[in-house]
Amino acid sequence: METVLNKSVSGTAAATGGVRSPRTVTQIIPGVDAQDGAGVRLKRSLGGHELQLFDPFLLLDEFRSDDASDYIAGFPDHPHRGFETVTYMLAGRMGHKDNQGNSGLLKPGGAQWMTAGRGIVHSEMPEQEDGLMWGFQLWVNLPAAQKMRAPRYQDIEPQDIPEVELSEGVRVRLVAGDLAGRTGAVRDIAVNPIYWDVHLEAGRELDEALPAGHNAFIYVYDGTVSIGGAEIRTSQMALLGDGDHLAVAASGAAARFLVIAGQPIGEQVARHGPFVMNTREEILQAFQDYQAGRF
Ligand code: CO
Repeated sequence: METVLNKSVSGTAAATGGVRSPRTVTQIIPGVDAQDGAGVRLKRSLGGHELQLFDPFLLLDEFRSDDASDYIAGFPDHPHRGFETVTYMLAGRMGHKDNQGNSGLLKPGGAQWMTAGRGIVHSEMPEQEDGLMWGFQLWVNLPAAQKMRAPRYQDIEPQDIPEVELSEGVRVRLVAGDLAGRTGAVRDIAVNPIYWDVHLEAGRELDEALPAGHNAFIYVYDGTVSIGGAEIRTSQMALLGDGDHLAVAASGAAARFLVIAGQPIGEQVARHGPFVMNTREEILQAFQDYQAGRF
């Protein structure tokens, strides 16, 4: 597995390196209504029926409701081992607390990149604020060498997420990954991820380099966009083929979407609920360790 970090450069800079190869849409996955935790209603795209794994990504949920009964019971104590959970809030707050004394409160516009490593038990509890709760949780796999590392949190305040205005009407919040000379808020993650929150005004286009070899997708959470003639609507995920840049246009009204990319890990995946390891034996071990209180 090639592990060279391809720094993201601007679209124009990439053009000096020769012919650009645009990423095109290979599959569109709809967000499907689902429930998780203590009955939180959400839309699951990756990790649902259609596709279980887009290496290194394991799951993407969008939770959005202005009815507190859809989410207020939250995600009471549950374990994780062997991967990372990334929570990004657009509206509302999410409190978290784990069995190792860590706690915090995610605010609107803030993010948490939690590396579960060898294991934590935590709760994730929404807090109502003006009713609306809106955010995302992404699961990112860890390579075998890091699955049993010590847990780690990167809690990012809203004001610590760099915001780049690439051109008029093209604005990007950098949760992770470099863009236009700025460095994303989250650092030192195994798969060298990109996690951008892109806001396009009507008629505008994002046209930026993406590291070739990364698996990449977009998830549209507001409006409709097009990539090379393919239309992607609200609550749809579009998987992208390989290439070295990405052009996404808001041809009609304004649109907002996530761009998420990471180096594929290329290892065997054994998965059961909140445990993601390489072998079935390691999953059984995770159950034993959890039940014995060793997390
Ligand atoms: Co969790």
